[in-house]
Amino acid sequence: MNRDEKAKMINNVGYWWHSIDCGDGLVTPGFKTIDILNNEWKSIGINNLTGRTVLDIGAWDGYFSFKAEECGAKRVCALDHYVWSLDLEFGNKIRKDILEGRRVMPQEPIRMPSIWNPGMLPGKKGFDTAHTLRNSKVEQYVADFMKMDLVELGTWDVVFFLGVLYHLQNPLEGLKRLALITRELAVIETQGIYINSLEQKGLFEFYEADELNNDSSNWFAPNLLGLQKACRAAGFREVQVSSPYPPDGAAYAGNNLLPCRLTVHAYK
Ligand SMILES: C[S@@+](CC[C@H](N)C(=O)[O-])C[C@H]1O[C@@H](n2cnc3c(N)ncnc32)[C@H](O)[C@@H]1O
Repeated sequence: MNRDEKAKMINNVGYWWHSIDCGDGLVTPGFKTIDILNNEWKSIGINNLTGRTVLDIGAWDGYFSFKAEECGAKRVCALDHYVWSLDLEFGNKIRKDILEGRRVMPQEPIRMPSIWNPGMLPGKKGFDTAHTLRNSKVEQYVADFMKMDLVELGTWDVVFFLGVLYHLQNPLEGLKRLALITRELAVIETQGIYINSLEQKGLFEFYEADELNNDSSNWFAPNLLGLQKACRAAGFREVQVSSPYPPDGAAYAGNNLLPCRLTVHAYK
């Protein structure tokens, strides 16, 4: 395939979440820019996965799965189902209409039949395209992590759980399931909260509707201690923060609640 053909394949994907290097100077135009992803990878703090098996839960376009492959993992699997089932291009148009008042929020906004298509997996086109263009050997698994058979999934040395926890209605159950399939290390990245005066309390903020980022698929965001306690209650031995902490802006927040992102390494 020549460079123009590759560029055409990239342009044929309606919406990219990740900016992924596909060779020949071509990078996919992701909502998450290269700078954002470089910073996230730095916060994850892993550079060598030689000989490890890696499962990437909530992989979306697969940036972190491909990164694990680059870092020498002997086997990598990308697992997702939710955004892979969405027509993201049409979904984003509807979202814009709702935000700008041209359309009313439906009760089940995400699973509207016009954009929810688990049979055709329209939202997986980005992953498939990057996978082809990179000649990747990353395996793929279409499944809801909260409902799937964990025996069939097996255990993995390293599991990425990046940007998934706050989308779960039952985060403790999610962490328990994560602990069951993790052999060594789970890397958990999540929306979080920071309140200086309540640092010694384990907290989760709850969102009843779409008050976090206008997104009704967001449910809970923990502070660091809440996340550490929940991981230990779920079956992890030790939990260390790997993102910069206290988070950016903490010095100016006083005792107000500061929304932030948290990344931890949870060890079995
Ligand atoms: C905010 S995105 C994060 C994507 C990517 N991990 C990253 O950090 O850029 C959340 C991802 O988790 C996936 N997801 C949410 N709930 C899931 C579940 N129960 N099983 C599998 N994937 C899930 C979504 O489909 C989506 O791809």
